[in-house]
Formats: sequence, C-alpha cells, structure tokens
Amino acid sequence: MSEVVLAYSGGLDTSVCIPLLRERYGFDKIVTVLVDVGQPRSDIERGNLRAKQLADEHYTIDAREEFVEKCLFPLIKANGSYEGYVLGTAIARPLIASKSAEIADKLGIKNLAHGCTGRGNDQLRFEAIFRATDCRVIAPMRELDLAREWEIDYAREHGIDVPVTKDKPWSIDENIWSRSIEGGKLEDPYFEPPEEIYGWTKTPSSDRSAQIVEIGFKEGVPVSLDGKQMNGMELIEKLNQIGGEHGVGRTDMIEDRVMGLKARENYEHPAATILLTAHKDLERLVLSRNELRFKVMVDEFWSELAYMGLVEDPLYADLNAFVDQSQKRVNGSVKIKLFCGSAISVGRQSPDALYSQDMVSFDSQTLSQKDAEGFAKYHGFQARLLKRKGR
Ligand code: ARG
Repeated sequence: MSEVVLAYSGGLDTSVCIPLLRERYGFDKIVTVLVDVGQPRSDIERGNLRAKQLADEHYTIDAREEFVEKCLFPLIKANGSYEGYVLGTAIARPLIASKSAEIADKLGIKNLAHGCTGRGNDQLRFEAIFRATDCRVIAPMRELDLAREWEIDYAREHGIDVPVTKDKPWSIDENIWSRSIEGGKLEDPYFEPPEEIYGWTKTPSSDRSAQIVEIGFKEGVPVSLDGKQMNGMELIEKLNQIGGEHGVGRTDMIEDRVMGLKARENYEHPAATILLTAHKDLERLVLSRNELRFKVMVDEFWSELAYMGLVEDPLYADLNAFVDQSQKRVNGSVKIKLFCGSAISVGRQSPDALYSQDMVSFDSQTLSQKDAEGFAKYHGFQARLLKRKGR
C-alpha cells in the first residue's frame, strides 16, 4: 500500500491536495497532520472536520507552547526581523514540517507532502526539513501548476466548501505571532489595503486615549505584563489583544523572497511589535556599545536564516549560542506607550543597566570634567594632523 503524510492546514490548498494525492499520485492512504501554532480555533476546527471527511487518518498536534518557547523566544532575543517583517510564517514552518516528518517516521511512511506553490518561500522551508529525512517529497501545488479557479472548482466537486469568494480572495496565514494577508488586489503594490483585510488590529485612531504597558524581561525573554508574571503564550495573546485595540503592528511592505521575487506583503502583529520594541530598548540599556554593534550583525544573519527556513544550518545554532550568552544581562522592564497605531518606549529600568545617572547628570560632580580634557585633545588627532599639512 502506498501511503503519504501531508502537512495539513485545513485551508484550500492543502485540502485540495488530499484528493489530488489519491487521484493524481495514486496514494491509497493519506495521513494529514495539522500542527497548532496558535491559528484561530475556528481554523483548527475546520481543518479537523475537513480532514475527517477527506483523509484516511488525521493528527492534530498542539505545538503552541513549543512554538513560543523554542521558536519565538529565540526570535525575540535576536530581534528577529527580515526587511521589517517579524517572521511569523517563516519561523513556524520548520516546526510544522518537523512535526509532520515525526508522524511519518512513527508510522513508517516514506512519503511527505506539502501544499506550497512554486512561487513562495514556504516550499523551501518545508523541504529544508523534509529532505533531511529519507522520504520522497511531494509538492502537488507546485508539480501540477494549478490555477486558483481550477482549484476552487475541483474543491467543490470533492465536497470541500470554499469560503474564499472572488472579491475577497485573500490568502491568509495566521499563528500566534502574526497574521499575513496576501493575494487578490493586494498584488498591485500601489493599491491601498482596504480595512477589511485586517483581523487583529483596529483602525488606528487618535480618539482612543494612549495606554502604557510594562513588559518585564528575564534573560531576554518576556516574563511579565504590568508586573504580573505570565507565560509566553498568555503574554503574546494578551498583547495582541491590547495592541490590536490601538491599531499597533500593521506592516505593508515590499519583501524580497528567497528566490529573488519581490512580493507585496501585509502583516498584523501587535504583540510582536510591542515585544520587539521593548526588547531592543532594554538591550540598549544593558549591553555595551561593542556588544550592540556586533549583535546588529548577528541579528541580521539570524533573521535571514529564519526567513529562509534554514534553522538546521549549523550557523543557526552558533548564532543562538552567541545570542543566549548576550542575553544573560537583559533583565528589567520597559514601558511602552500605545497610541494611534504606534508603540513607543517611554521608560526602561534594569538591575543590570550599564547606565550611571550619577555620572551622566548635568547636576553631578562625581565625574571630574577636567579629566575629559586629555581625551578631547587626542580625539580627531589624525584628521587635524593632515589638515595642518595642508592636504
Ligand atoms: N511572505 C511571508 C513569508 O514568506 C508570508 C507568507 C504567508 N503566506 C500566505 N499564504 N499568506 O514568510
């Protein structure tokens, strides 16, 4: 019997993959794996329902905690951002792929399928993981090169209800870290997104008064909100809700995909914006100038690997080791003011601050200003020498 494990989201593409794997690829047994990384409960339920109807065997894996602790905490510590994108979809893919591969391994199945097209990054992220196994990799969407219209008709023929209509054709990918919206009219980069694409954030409005949230960090990891200890998932959910009320965390950008295609991307990510803003700000209080300068480069490399889904590249572990070491002193809290779509740091404190109010203050006598005179004499010394030579 030929069997295949399909990484399944419950959406249109992966649902269509199920009958395709049977009819076009001749598999007799389709096993679906739905990995819960905090997508809306209704998506999970719809996925479970559709899988029951279409697949031969189905697994739902709750990976939310693992996603937060093993993927998002390292992301926060590395100030994860690729060209301004907070990496929500990217950072979840390897985990989804690994969980699917684990099921295949457990069931002794030698075929792994995903529903990604041949245009995006997700195919690369899935396959970076899948191809490390000795399974055959199947990508029906890419291999059969199907048009959306055809897919919708095919889905209906197979009893898959299709909620996407022609005037709301958004392709949405959601997890606890971000919601991404693509497709339809948004593919014209000049087209301004209509409010209806947003699901997590209200329209930013100055009618709503500002609100301050205080985020506590321990070794670079967010651990509290307004003084109340919370686990990562609770904290992120809460901040998505609060930030969303203020319209915080919308991104409309042109993104360079791995293969070089430029794409117009829209994202929502209130908690990510708040946490990354707070984390970066706290780092500026506690890390040395040299650490900060060097870490910018590390963060950039880290983010690029995460974007590419290359979390099994040895460099990823190397960078994480550096980042973890750098975070030992990233303890304290940051006040973030939420107002009319923005999230701005307005105060920070840390027991590990490399900051001396006493020495920097205009009112202080601790630092003898006279001592700086010698330093000033040498500052810019070579340039002055050159100038004196008339060159
Ligand atoms: N451009 C983003 C990425 O490569 C998000 C892709 C999200 N996919 C979607 N169907 N909306 O990670």
